[in-house]
Amino acid sequence: MKKTSFMAVAALAGAVALSLAGCASGGGGTPTESGDGGDAAVGRACVILPDSASSNRWEDFDRKYLQEGLEAAGFETDIQNAQGDVQKFATIGDQMLTKGCGVMLLVDYQGAAPGVAEKAKAEGIPVIAYDRPFTGADYYVSFDNVKVGELEGQMVVDGLEALGKDPATAVVVYMGGDPTDGNAAMFKEGAVSVMEAAGITPAAEPPGVWDQAKSATNFEQALTSLGGQVDAVWSANDANAAGVISILMKNNLRDVPISGQDAQLGALQYILTGWQTGTVWKPVKLEADAAVATAIALLNGETPAADQELEDGTPYIAVTPNSVGPEQVKDVVAAGDADAAELCTGDVDGVSLADACAEYGVQ
Ligand code: GAL
Repeated sequence: MKKTSFMAVAALAGAVALSLAGCASGGGGTPTESGDGGDAAVGRACVILPDSASSNRWEDFDRKYLQEGLEAAGFETDIQNAQGDVQKFATIGDQMLTKGCGVMLLVDYQGAAPGVAEKAKAEGIPVIAYDRPFTGADYYVSFDNVKVGELEGQMVVDGLEALGKDPATAVVVYMGGDPTDGNAAMFKEGAVSVMEAAGITPAAEPPGVWDQAKSATNFEQALTSLGGQVDAVWSANDANAAGVISILMKNNLRDVPISGQDAQLGALQYILTGWQTGTVWKPVKLEADAAVATAIALLNGETPAADQELEDGTPYIAVTPNSVGPEQVKDVVAAGDADAAELCTGDVDGVSLADACAEYGVQ
């Protein structure tokens, strides 16, 4: 057994004792108060993911890294996905709490998390707002989301300048995220601060979404309202960017700088072939590991050090994100967050991905 995991198990054992003590003083939902360590609920980490449509990250990365991290720390895991359904989110929460949870990690979906958190807190269960903020959590563990936005805004500004276009007169469309996701405002705050400093004002700003198909429809309408003219697009994530790019392709509009976030495989392919300027890569393993460490500390009654604080006072652990253009795609592959064989297969609009990968040293 590696030293780190032994220490984690030791930490969890301490947490079990602590939680059992709490249980004797009235914490609900814990099946045994015998004090013999047989309280299965204490060792269960309950996780609710939001959906699959907004990003592949939840099922492809967060599930995997949270499961690995939590199990290495000695937890049993119960990880479920609300699949974009607020009611389902609540039902999953109730079912998890009936079985018992030692800690809950919730990724909010359209305001569904606070209700579940309230019930968990009533049972004395620590709650972590994982990736998305919401009121009532003990801690918020995410990336530095204003920084994410700043990196996106910089892609737009740099992209325009590389084309010799003046940002102050450029026609820029803003494609933000779903406003019910507390992160969307932070992404926008960061992006707007950088774009405004370069003189950019939005030419059109359709409603925020996290959805490729809706983004395509919204962007197409915006483009029509602009008489078919667009110089750049701030897109808050890769799913939205993919929707926009489908419309740019349909209209044969090349050389339109566009940002993104999540380092999705399709986005990396667009970046390598010049359709997308860049993406913000957020190595999910770092975020999952930070959440696991926070869970253990909370169960041990400790106060983990926070980097920032949300406006409502929730301590915020903010992992640093990375900007990825064509030259950095190989770093995402090297870290295991994209598969070179998958990435370098096929073509985008007639450009071979094998050639593009060779050009940028992706292997
Ligand atoms: C955000 C998250 C991003 C992106 C987006 C769409 O809250 O931080 O990584 O996936 O949601 O789901």
